[in-house]
Amino acid sequence: MSTYKSIISHFTSKRILVIGDLILDQHIKGNVSRISPEAPVPILLQEGHPTFSPGGAANVANNLRSVGAKVTLVGRIGNDMEGKIFTKSIKQRKIETDGVFIDKNMPTILKTRIMTQRQQVLRVDREKENGSIDPVLLKAINAFIEKNLSHFDAVIVSDYGKGMITPELLSHVCMLALKAKKVLTIDPKDDHFNFYRRVTSITPNKRETENAIRNIKLTLEGNKLKLNSDRLKSQDDVLRAGEQLLKYLDLESLLVTLGESGMCLFEKGKKPVHIPTRAQEVFDVTGAGDTVISLFTLALTAGATKLQAADIANHAAGIVVGKMGAATVSREELLKACLKGDKV
Ligand SMILES: Nc1ncnc2c1ncn2[C@@H]1O[C@H](COP(=O)(O)OP(=O)(O)OP(=O)(O)O)[C@@H](O)[C@H]1O
Ligand SMILES: [Mg+2]
Repeated sequence: MSTYKSIISHFTSKRILVIGDLILDQHIKGNVSRISPEAPVPILLQEGHPTFSPGGAANVANNLRSVGAKVTLVGRIGNDMEGKIFTKSIKQRKIETDGVFIDKNMPTILKTRIMTQRQQVLRVDREKENGSIDPVLLKAINAFIEKNLSHFDAVIVSDYGKGMITPELLSHVCMLALKAKKVLTIDPKDDHFNFYRRVTSITPNKRETENAIRNIKLTLEGNKLKLNSDRLKSQDDVLRAGEQLLKYLDLESLLVTLGESGMCLFEKGKKPVHIPTRAQEVFDVTGAGDTVISLFTLALTAGATKLQAADIANHAAGIVVGKMGAATVSREELLKACLKGDKV
């Protein structure tokens, strides 16, 4: 079995393809000291310029780059200024953009967070309501994936439910990755669960797991899930639901993230393992799920067992929740935490 040191030292030689909804995160910072005379809302006196960072699937790519992996991003942006800012910020991070396509029919998805020193005051989202993907563009994206897949050690699908990940694209990616025996992990959205069969792993949080059960129960095959309720109230509920999902979807593994309760790893033919969080202090949990799928997948390509990969991902998430914003972790920080932490 590889040591954590050896696993992490292999990160820089790995190439990961990240497919998903691309989002540009904008932060506007300032101070609030008075209420508007026009309406009962605070007035923020802006300090400096807005800052931009990669969000959605691009945050997964950013997490992978921060620990030294080579990353290519596949997704779509609008033909607008925000799209240009997005591409610049991705290029600055040395993430490959040949798989980033321009979709003339949508604006670049923008999430603006308006912040004071202490808290978020407002979030403004800009996206097309029905962001479905144009068939011609989908064809080009599918062709890109097919042509380039052999160059990668793993594929991550980061489904934020913004229209990029359609059943058609999912089926195509799963078919190609399974055929080529690539590690394939998916951060899932509620209504696509029936397309996730036989993949290396999916990484839903508790709410997504509940919704998965609800959605599967509504299908013709739903009675195969031997669960009375879709609510996961106790640890026992989580264990039972995880085992049923693993079996129903014929997954190699399933990693359910549980926020402050850490995560639970389910593996074919093995007993589930609960891993408590390693977080020392919690400032901002934004993007912790992105960190989990990034590090779990990368560690698998670098020789980790599923349990080691989950433990590494859990350490990484424990570090990022102690930082502000959708933060990332470095190889040095991660190695230190893994060596210091109790082994699972
Ligand atoms: N409040 C918390 N306290 C301690 N650890 C946390 C907390 N929230 C998240 N974590 C860590 O981050 C991991 C992922 O968090 P979570 O289950 O909230 O994922 P998520 O809901 O997918 O997050 P995201 O907001 O990125 O979608 C957890 O498994 C845990 O290790
Ligand atoms: Mg998530």
